[in-house]
Amino acid sequence: MKNLKFRNGDLLPILGLGTWKSGPGEVQKAVFWAIEAGYRHIDCAAVYGNEKEVGKGIAEAIEAGLVKRQDLFITSKLWNDSHRHEDVGPAIDRSLDLLNLDYLDLYLIHWPISFKHGIGFAQHREEYYTYKDVPLTQTWEAMQEQKSLGKTKHIGVSNFNQSKLKELIKMKEEVPEMNQVEMHPFLPQEALVQFCKEHEILMTAYSPLGSPDSRGEKHINDPKLLQNPVVKEIANRQGISTGQVLIAWSINRDVAVIPKSVNKNRIIENLESAQVKLTDHDLMELKDIGVSHRFVDGSFFTGSQSPYKTSDLFDQ
Ligand SMILES: NC(=O)c1ccc[n+]([C@@H]2O[C@H](COP(=O)([O-])OP(=O)(O)OC[C@H]3O[C@@H](n4cnc5c(N)ncnc54)[C@H](OP(=O)(O)O)[C@@H]3O)[C@@H](O)[C@H]2O)c1
Repeated sequence: MKNLKFRNGDLLPILGLGTWKSGPGEVQKAVFWAIEAGYRHIDCAAVYGNEKEVGKGIAEAIEAGLVKRQDLFITSKLWNDSHRHEDVGPAIDRSLDLLNLDYLDLYLIHWPISFKHGIGFAQHREEYYTYKDVPLTQTWEAMQEQKSLGKTKHIGVSNFNQSKLKELIKMKEEVPEMNQVEMHPFLPQEALVQFCKEHEILMTAYSPLGSPDSRGEKHINDPKLLQNPVVKEIANRQGISTGQVLIAWSINRDVAVIPKSVNKNRIIENLESAQVKLTDHDLMELKDIGVSHRFVDGSFFTGSQSPYKTSDLFDQ
């Protein structure tokens, strides 16, 4: 499988397993099957509430002799309620404890949004901190400290637009090594990809299949990425599935990609996308797909009670 290279030369397997919405009773098996099939990169987060089960899947695979810890690349993310300097260390310690690991390979600031400590999802104004209360630069200082303590090999961010990245770059300290954002042919993020490339920031594409299992009633009219006619036509031509077209699209752009599945056959099918060769014609058709859509629109953080605006999350 193709790897991406961090600035220090460390490698990131370009395809990993997503674990958001992977429930208890299913995620341990999913992680084990993934490692058994050949995945070496697992994407986790404190807020997914399943790090203990993910850790069990990893331990099971190591105990079965499938891999050693150092063969795996494990990412976790700092939740919005732990952005204050003093909260970052305990937050990474908790993820390490749940995952049953001595170190992470990558730790990300999950969103550029800050809640008071202990708040899972802020509903009221008083449950939020503003950028004045807790500047992102404060959180970034603490992230660098965790790296220097050896608790994570790499640090980065998620859901950061260009202006938020520039705030951290201006500190003249360590530049984030990764920016994980939503990315697929409906949201190719060309300008952000270019900006990150210029600053040697690797990128990971989340919700590469359009996150169909997070779309409730409210989103019934969202366009369907896996059923898009252009994607379907390429899949038919190549003799592969639409999911494989979408995963191969990210790999082709040198962007890491983390499709989520708890289904053994789909876990294997998704891994096989790493072998798919899209033609220039396929790529041109995907570029001209004619649909523009963001599935994870951040609206849960930008309601009337929130001090944050959509422009704090996404480039307009
Ligand atoms: N940093 C962030 O803020 C952020 C936000 C969103 C997501 N993420 C990360 O990115 C990962 C992926 O994104 P996501 O979970 O939103 O959605 P996704 O990977 O785009 O889609 C997952 C859905 O697609 C189904 N699926 C998987 N493989 C398939 C295939 N080959 N054909 C058809 N359906 C398939 C899954 O069902 P089954 O499980 O039943 O197979 C599940 O319903 C997350 O799990 C998480 O790790 C990060």
